[in-house]
Amino acid sequence: MMTQTDVIGQTADYVREAMQGDSSGHDWWHIYRVWQNSLYLAAREGADVTVVQLAALLHDVGDWKFYDGDESVGPRLAREWLERLGVDEGVTGQVCAIIADLSFKGAGVQAARLTLEGQVVQDADRLDAIGAIGIARAFAYGGAKGREMHDPAAAPVMHSSFEQYKNSRGTTINHFHEKLVLLKDRLNTEAARRLAADRHAFMLEFLRRFEAEWDIGRSAADEA
Ligand code: ADP
Ligand code: NI
Repeated sequence: MMTQTDVIGQTADYVREAMQGDSSGHDWWHIYRVWQNSLYLAAREGADVTVVQLAALLHDVGDWKFYDGDESVGPRLAREWLERLGVDEGVTGQVCAIIADLSFKGAGVQAARLTLEGQVVQDADRLDAIGAIGIARAFAYGGAKGREMHDPAAAPVMHSSFEQYKNSRGTTINHFHEKLVLLKDRLNTEAARRLAADRHAFMLEFLRRFEAEWDIGRSAADEA
């Protein structure tokens, strides 16, 4: 019989191996930060730490973004792994349900209802998508997916279905408007909202400067 510590440790080893060398912002260190931030939020919210840790560790293994939009891969790989470890169905079921519903599906798409544990992991994942790290990850993802950084003629799109969001090939700057700046108002827990405020403000400042530098004429006029 494996202890809870063994289950978490072996899962961390499995995920570290699986995500090794990713250059799209979904590397092991993203998982590690989500794991640690999930523990921080779980302690404040009174969430179950076994479910939270397993869901945080497994949440991006088999992400639809890397499986041609197929949303069933993530929960399936998580289930196979947890069954292999002999984790009981109560915990496995909760973890897989969280993984299935965690991901952002478009600005205009109604979010799934999550358990407290799911809310905590989603907040931790979202905190890692904003602020300085969020900016870095967005450009890493854009580069990995061959996206343009910016096109002043392309307006952001508020996607109203997951299909539309999934198939979007928009620029990375537009991704900030289509998702990243919306996240602070879509967090579940008070503890995450407190952490998000400063990160959000920094992202807005980044966007302001990006646009000012892009348009040299306009920034020169601002100074005059
Ligand atoms: P989610 O499942 O909610 O999308 P992830 O942990 O998979 O969360 O992380 C998504 C990360 O990928 C974010 O940091 C986000 O900036 C980046 N990303 C996703 N789509 C795009 C995109 N179209 N352009 C730039 N970055 C993107
Ligand atoms: Ni993630």
